[in-house]
Amino acid sequence: MADQKIYQASTTAPVNIAVVKYWGKRDAKLNLPTNSSVSVTLSQADLRTHTTAACSATFGPEDSLILNSSTQDVSGARTQACFRELRSLRTALEASDSSLAKIATLPLRIVSENNFPTAAGLASSAAGFAALVRAIANLYELPASPTELSRIARQGSGSACRSLFGGYVAWQMGEKDDGSDSLAVQVAPASHWPTMRALILVVSAEKKGVSSTSGMQITVATSKLFKRRAEVVVPESMLLMEKAIKEKDFQSFGEVTMRESNSFHATCLDTFPPIFYLNDVSRAAIRVVEDINKNAGKIIAAYTFDAGPNAVIYYEEENVDAVAGVLNGALGGLDGWKTRDIEPQNPSNLDARAVQVLKDGVSRVILTSVGEGPIRTEESLIDATGAPVQK
Ligand code: DP6
Repeated sequence: MADQKIYQASTTAPVNIAVVKYWGKRDAKLNLPTNSSVSVTLSQADLRTHTTAACSATFGPEDSLILNSSTQDVSGARTQACFRELRSLRTALEASDSSLAKIATLPLRIVSENNFPTAAGLASSAAGFAALVRAIANLYELPASPTELSRIARQGSGSACRSLFGGYVAWQMGEKDDGSDSLAVQVAPASHWPTMRALILVVSAEKKGVSSTSGMQITVATSKLFKRRAEVVVPESMLLMEKAIKEKDFQSFGEVTMRESNSFHATCLDTFPPIFYLNDVSRAAIRVVEDINKNAGKIIAAYTFDAGPNAVIYYEEENVDAVAGVLNGALGGLDGWKTRDIEPQNPSNLDARAVQVLKDGVSRVILTSVGEGPIRTEESLIDATGAPVQK
């Protein structure tokens, strides 16, 4: 009788927020970028995707994926590319060792859960594809390194390749047409600079307007600023950022982070017709961060925005009162502060109008920190009969 066993493995994977931004593809099929990028991996205690990958002759006949209890389409080219690449590594492994179970061709069943709202501009695709690739690699017992897996996760979503590592991560754009050198590497582990904190002002938990995938395509096709960003601005930012991280130099880290966010959003504005990801609430967050830095007489807080209005503000633990405490004093009323025992501080010398806009427009705060890469877990989202676990 054919093998009826259900094989399975689980992992969690983190969100990452770029401090040197990826924006633009030179090959849309392979997700090859027009510039390198750097990100900080955020703690999975606050933001993570949990994924179980299973395969069995009793499943199918098709591969399937359930995310937050709803069935997803797996026929898209990105998911198919990940499945195909991982299967081919398993097939090679089985060919090299005849004692291994023949599971590469069995139908896959993937069950995934986010502990944060999907597509709220919180890099859910990064955590999602990193978890999917890591979980299947665990299922197939592939001896692949995170960098090797980053080549596969990149084809799911560009930024996902950086979520295979913890700490501070660079995605090197590479030069080859086949993408074999477009990979993620760790710049430094979380333990190198563990005092990095991130405060997220969730401006809107709705799905974003222009997706990053289509937004960056239009930017590449129409923006005249874009070429300079890819050829001159980002290569400089990469050198400065990697040095700032190695030296734990927040002044430089903060300046490059803010300039990078501004440069990326400038190319969005220069896209024709223009793309607006920042709104009035985002601009109020920029103003308040500027005031916090002015009051401190140096850069102690750094804002960054992805393809949506949410603000991510990086700071170091030693400045928790002057950054998170002051923002708590100014905004109050939101639950998130309690998760990290942030004491409200007197919000003096902040622009009153900007504070009011934030009060009206921020729906939630998330307090988190630099964190670890994917973590294997025995907690499964698929039960012994192969059914998704109901929560
Ligand atoms: C602004 O990785 O979501 O967050 O490769 O098309 O899936 P695709 O794009 P995606 O783009 C992320 C863009 C960004 C910047 C960044 O994370 O570097």
